[in-house]
Amino acid sequence: MRLLITGASGHIGGVLSTRLHDEYDIRGLDLRPPEGDVDEAIGGGFIVGDCSDPEVANRAVEGVDAVVHLAGIATETDLPAILSTHVETTAALLDAMVSHGVDRMVYASSNHAVGMTARSALLTNDVAPRPDTFYGVGKVAAEGLLSLYADRFGISSVAMRIGSFLERPETRRGLSTWLSYDDCARMVRAALTADVVGVATIYGISNNTDAWWDLAPGRALGYHPQDDAAAFAATIPTRAEDDIEGARVGGPLTTKEFHLPAFGKSR
Ligand SMILES: NC(=O)c1ccc[n+]([C@@H]2O[C@H](COP(=O)([O-])OP(=O)(O)OC[C@H]3O[C@@H](n4cnc5c(N)ncnc54)[C@H](O)[C@@H]3O)[C@@H](O)[C@H]2O)c1
Repeated sequence: MRLLITGASGHIGGVLSTRLHDEYDIRGLDLRPPEGDVDEAIGGGFIVGDCSDPEVANRAVEGVDAVVHLAGIATETDLPAILSTHVETTAALLDAMVSHGVDRMVYASSNHAVGMTARSALLTNDVAPRPDTFYGVGKVAAEGLLSLYADRFGISSVAMRIGSFLERPETRRGLSTWLSYDDCARMVRAALTADVVGVATIYGISNNTDAWWDLAPGRALGYHPQDDAAAFAATIPTRAEDDIEGARVGGPLTTKEFHLPAFGKSR
């Protein structure tokens, strides 16, 4: 299977490229070139460019079987930048997929699409959108595009609402939200090959003992996570911020420090 990975030079893109290159022919796309192992893992060529540019998206999608869309600013910033980096990139890629008859997108959405939801026993995947930031708004809008292109053009997608992608969990919240490197690769493999009609929304976390996001929709697609953040629990100190970070789905991004004016970067 020939894959386009956008954001291939980033944290998740690099880990996926090195883990998946034996099974897939990978083409990379990013604003910046890849380095080291990632450069070697990408056998299908690399395009340095902006995937919100329709010409770049079109060139990148031509000849692949599926798109793993990771490119984007992975934190809060002003609204115009968010709309470009999450919404315009997704739209340009989906248009290119229509043109080239590519019918599967695996999308790096985020828990911040539902970040203001109060923590409960189990966060299901049918909870209403409730973004905690412009970043979360961008992810909600991108998920909306997946739905539109599924209904209009039959492109099937998996929206992975990723938690905390790290080598190891670093906070008490991370004991619930951690996604290990190996489990991320397991999730993307499942998302690429599962039978999906329309859009499947899953939570991108490991098999954490303290998980409070529902893994059943991911398991139904064949995602069977193996790692558990609890293995690191003894090494993670408690902090004053833990209670507030554990009160809502989006953790720290729900707090006042992340409030920005829509059109300016000052806090
Ligand atoms: N890391 C996490 O814990 C996490 C959690 C939830 C969601 N996500 C999402 O996963 C995706 C990847 O995250 P990451 O942690 O690897 O971030 P990252 O910042 O390490 O990588 C993102 C990459 O995208 C590239 N990029 C940005 N805009 C682009 C554009 N317009 N065209 C081409 N390339 C562009 C950047 O150059 C960068 O290399 C992001 O969409 C992020 O929102 C990440």
